[in-house]
Amino acid sequence: MLCGIICAYICSIALDGIQKNTMDQDSYLKLQDDIEKEAVSDLTEIASLDDLESWRVDLLGRNGKLTGLLRGISELPVDSRREAGGKANSLKKALTEKYQDHKSYLEGNSSIGSESGTNSLDVTLPGRNIEFGTLHPTTAAVREICQVFESMGFQIIEGPEVELDTYNFQKLNIPEEHPARDMWNSLWIDRVLPDGSRPLLLRTHTSPMQIRTMESQNPPVRVVVPGKTYRYEATDATHEWQFCQIEGLAVDKDITFADLKGTLEEFARRIFGDKRKARFRCDFFPFVEPGAEVSIDCFKCEGDGCRVCGNSGWIEIMGAGMVHPKVLEGVGYDPEIYSGFAWGMGAERIAMLKHGIDDIRQFYSNDVRFLKQFSQ
Ligand code: DAH
Repeated sequence: MLCGIICAYICSIALDGIQKNTMDQDSYLKLQDDIEKEAVSDLTEIASLDDLESWRVDLLGRNGKLTGLLRGISELPVDSRREAGGKANSLKKALTEKYQDHKSYLEGNSSIGSESGTNSLDVTLPGRNIEFGTLHPTTAAVREICQVFESMGFQIIEGPEVELDTYNFQKLNIPEEHPARDMWNSLWIDRVLPDGSRPLLLRTHTSPMQIRTMESQNPPVRVVVPGKTYRYEATDATHEWQFCQIEGLAVDKDITFADLKGTLEEFARRIFGDKRKARFRCDFFPFVEPGAEVSIDCFKCEGDGCRVCGNSGWIEIMGAGMVHPKVLEGVGYDPEIYSGFAWGMGAERIAMLKHGIDDIRQFYSNDVRFLKQFSQ
């Protein structure tokens, strides 16, 4: 405060000096500086519109300090008027802006709760809803399926999406040039070895994790492997070039086809309802013998035939089988001692059946209106 009074006193003497043409350019600029510093520091302490108005009058009013400063320019030596005048005008502009900003700020604050203020804040209005994200339907299906198998003692593991030909095919009893490779349209990685072969691809199924698991541990094995898989396919309502599979593998002494049936029937009931029956029919997959196609009786029409089951009364949900002795041998397990069963299913297919979704492309089209419907 004392500082303000002294400064005001000095200013008034100095302004007198200008008017009497006794001031040089340096002193003029110094005075301009002092006025600016004082004005800015005073402004930060102003908390009411009345005080702000006094500040404005004192500086920018008809007899204000800055107005006096501007008037005094004509009294300066001619060659210094241009620069001094320019600076004084910029200062006036800057202080006027600060005044406007501070005024809006004070008006905003003073009108909290009042109805007349233009920026008034009505604390009685209901709050805005916070949007929460939801689980993607594929993620939700994967979690639900994994929980069922976890409760039966399976361990959940993951593996690489870029896979070696060896694991994706060869060690699964699908040698090079074998016609069974046509079952999987592969997306190869553009890396060629000196012998012309391409060793890497985006995995076409999660089955290679059967090999990786058995190579890294001794029996007993009980694993479930969810993960992304890729195929070089044209897309339509039932085909996508990327989708999610859930692989399963159990290997131990004395495992039989009855274990496979019991495990997968229990899974079907837990996911699709207590009344479900499962059907196992012969199918071919090079890494299992015998291989099976697993279907459940239609939960929509209870087996009578409808659109969902294509009038057959049955819906296919996965492929499965007893691990081929050659596969066991390849990983160093003795097929005379150990046996096992395996399965692979599409997570999106299970979600489609559960929720009545008729186009797999919706899973990857990122339409929030679709995705939101499956919030948990
Ligand atoms: N990997 C197969 C596919 O993508 C599915 C499959 C069938 C997996 C039978 C298995 C199995 O483990 O035993 O079509």
